[in-house]
Amino acid sequence: MTARLALFAVLAGVVAGAGAQSADELRRFYDDGRKVAAQFVQQLGGELRREMEATGPLRSIIVCKFSGPEVASSLSRMTGWRVSRVSLRTRNPALGQPDAWEHRVLVEFDQRVQRGEKAEAMEFGEVVKEPGGTYFRYIKPLVVEKLCLNCHGPAEGLSATVRERLALDYPFDKAIGYSLGQVRGAVTVKRPL
Ligand code: HEC
Repeated sequence: MTARLALFAVLAGVVAGAGAQSADELRRFYDDGRKVAAQFVQQLGGELRREMEATGPLRSIIVCKFSGPEVASSLSRMTGWRVSRVSLRTRNPALGQPDAWEHRVLVEFDQRVQRGEKAEAMEFGEVVKEPGGTYFRYIKPLVVEKLCLNCHGPAEGLSATVRERLALDYPFDKAIGYSLGQVRGAVTVKRPL
């Protein structure tokens, strides 16, 4: 199902169901979620690219390690959306473990890539009832580009120093062995309705 169709299915379902939110409101949540996710990618990606050009992959590990969580929490504070980064194969299981909803969507993203769809065009959002309340959730794949291969590509392609550093910092690292165009993980945002 395309994201647009999914969105309309969601909106129709919600409007016909609880009736608490108007279709316009939900469309606005979808757009806002998309914007917040894009902001995260832009900020962190920009920082990573600058650092990679200036100092190379070894020093840039710092950006992923500290700036990733930092950008996520400062955006959360500023926007009211809870922002995080998750993956089916985490480098840092303490921060990157998906919940059940994220897990299901990530599996779908992977299946769609296997069927030949471009991950860059994928996104998904819907209203989700959880024990803690009702949320609007939005999720967008983080796709493996050339730059990412320096730290997430096949082990033999990583420089020896990067490999050593990662082994020291991340004893439970499952985030190597990726190839171009694969879904490395996702940026995921949610806010209470
Ligand atoms: C310089 C090395 C480096 C590069 C380049 C890099 N990453 Fe990472 N990445 C890391 C490190 C280190 C972590 C663990 C961060 C932490 O401690 O939370 C990480 C974590 C992640 C996570 C969070 C989930 C997890 O596995 O813990 C995602 C998603 C991710 N990277 C995607 C990407 C994408 C997409 C690119 C390319 C645009 C990329 N990374 C480029 C080093 C890198």
